Amino acid sequence: MIPSLLHWFEQNARPLPWRESPPVPYHVLLSEIMLQQTRIEAVKEHYHRFLLACPDIASLANLPDEQLMKLWEGLGYYSRARNLKKTALIVAEQGFPQTVEGLGKLPGVGPYTAAAIASIAFGVPAAAVDGNVLRVLSRLHAENFTRESASQWLLPKIPQGKAGAFTQAWMELGEIVCLPNGTPLCGECPLRLFCKARKNDLISQFPAPTPKPERTVQERTVFLLHCKGKIALHKRPPTGLLANLWEFPAVEKALSPKEAEKAFSGLRNLSFLGNAKHLFTHIEWRMRLYSADVDEPLQQFTWESPQNILRDYAIPSAFRRLKEHCKQY
Ligand code: ADE
Repeated sequence: MIPSLLHWFEQNARPLPWRESPPVPYHVLLSEIMLQQTRIEAVKEHYHRFLLACPDIASLANLPDEQLMKLWEGLGYYSRARNLKKTALIVAEQGFPQTVEGLGKLPGVGPYTAAAIASIAFGVPAAAVDGNVLRVLSRLHAENFTRESASQWLLPKIPQGKAGAFTQAWMELGEIVCLPNGTPLCGECPLRLFCKARKNDLISQFPAPTPKPERTVQERTVFLLHCKGKIALHKRPPTGLLANLWEFPAVEKALSPKEAEKAFSGLRNLSFLGNAKHLFTHIEWRMRLYSADVDEPLQQFTWESPQNILRDYAIPSAFRRLKEHCKQY
């Protein structure tokens, strides 16, 4: 089974920018952190930009936080970027750990990422089990796996000298063939003859569905405030959700147009721009969006031209709609 998988991977691996021969540990680290909970296509765009700004670990270790956040803008889970910089500081000083244990001690590097980096960058036989791998293994065996049991099944099968290809082949199979929900491409699967779920027509039953996260709904009203060609921004507090990132001025409740007019002093030409929703892991923002003019800049905000906002400020995707308005302004 493993030779079929590895042969398939050799023939079908996507030419992803961090798949290099020989692998560059910094590139593998960066890509694995970016790929946590994030689609490959979104990562590709950010990855190139990031490496232009920070071509090596030392330049990342020295990157000012505002620039770091700007480079991460749109990828979400911004604590990854903060941890990545902490990791860069450690690695720049002490060198790259080359074991799963050593890698796992770096900020933001959990057991999965440690095993992925160890195997891909350093050829260490380690089992990297993410959601994709769990799905593939559970279908293959028509049996649910935990990270622990998947790891135990995989470890003894890693061929000598091929740990990196082994890790990536399972991931790749989960990402381009053994797709979630009802859409796996079983006809293209190198393991189809070994697959118990397929043999027993149980593909849709594996893996067992995981419960949807419960989210707390937070109502917000968000304002695009204009004053003399500039737009108001607010820096979020240094801890909590979207810590230290920039946002447009907001009030933590849903305001009707009448209420919104009085949210800040001196608002004129209030206009309702629509509603927007944004999902975080455990929180859902339901937003009402308004634009308005003010004659004098309100002191509690930072005022910037739309061009400077788009060029210099890290504004999370939750505010995508208002950023689009900035572009037209
Ligand atoms: N997902 C996470 N890490 C990956 C990798 N190295 N290749 C493809 N998909 C991945």
